[in-house]
Amino acid sequence: MSDALLDIREASKRFGKVRALDRVSLSVAPGERVALLGHNGAGKTTLFRLILGFIRPTSGQIAVAGSPPGSNAARLAVAYLPENVAFQKALTGRETVRLYARLKGAARTDADRALERVGLADAADRRTGTYSKGMRQRLGLAQALVGSPRLMLLDEPTTGLDPLSRRNFYGLIDEIAASGTAVFLSSHSLSELEAKTDRVAILRNGALVADAALSKLQAEAALPVRICVKTEPNKVNEVSERLGGARVNGQSVELLCPAPEKMARLAAISALGPLVTDFDVSQPSLDDIYRHFSTQDKAEDRS
Ligand SMILES: Nc1ncnc2c1ncn2[C@@H]1O[C@H](COP(=O)(O)OP(=O)(O)O)[C@@H](O)[C@H]1O
Ligand SMILES: [Mg+2]
Repeated sequence: MSDALLDIREASKRFGKVRALDRVSLSVAPGERVALLGHNGAGKTTLFRLILGFIRPTSGQIAVAGSPPGSNAARLAVAYLPENVAFQKALTGRETVRLYARLKGAARTDADRALERVGLADAADRRTGTYSKGMRQRLGLAQALVGSPRLMLLDEPTTGLDPLSRRNFYGLIDEIAASGTAVFLSSHSLSELEAKTDRVAILRNGALVADAALSKLQAEAALPVRICVKTEPNKVNEVSERLGGARVNGQSVELLCPAPEKMARLAAISALGPLVTDFDVSQPSLDDIYRHFSTQDKAEDRS
């Protein structure tokens, strides 16, 4: 076995006729932050449930800290925050996390420390029914932290959080990873991650279609930059004829340009002199990159 904390080799899972996962191989090293991305139904939750040992792969192997999923050693190493977790509204935050601590055989002080780490110490004695969505997700993180897991599985932990709570949440994840715990979290949106992970793995219909650092995916996708050229009134046709590109709003022209040709295009634009009043260059967004990998319309799928 490798020294990866999580090692998945060619894991497949079928539910009757549904092929939920198709020969997925992936590993996570200690302290690494890996994002698992995919549309609804791509297989993210199924992969987490396999890692936890709740279900068994139809074929392939999975090792958690060198042990089979669901074994005592694996269960000690892994913590899980399920999608749409619900807490007993009548219990306080502290009671909730202490309950989990008891289930895991961890000390009560461990629960209090976890609450402190996620910034809930002040609210710990309030009922969870009074918590905001962001506080509930931090409580979920505290629950997962109890027992000092080496690997945390977080299933869509930031879905439904406002941008500030989300940033806050990723700040905590950074701290947790810096302390050596690997974090493997899922999301259905790359822009939601705010480039906060070391690696991005993308599932499409159960198959892993990408697994690399975001910068590498950006380069691999080689998406064009978008140049928007604003023209003098009534000059939009002339500019669009000379540059190519599509007319937008009757007063600008939009060009898609491969990154290496950017400078040549800018030279052509500035050669138009006073016909052009302004321009903007925008890089492909995280959503564009995600769409590139996660949608079906690539040539290999048409065959
Ligand atoms: N217990 C199950 N029985 C039958 N089909 C399932 C079961 N769990 C998941 N699936 C199917 O497997 C696919 C992947 O689901 P899931 O892992 O929940 O995706 P995601 O979490 O990415 O939204 C879907 O087509 C889903 O309907
Ligand atoms: Mg899911």
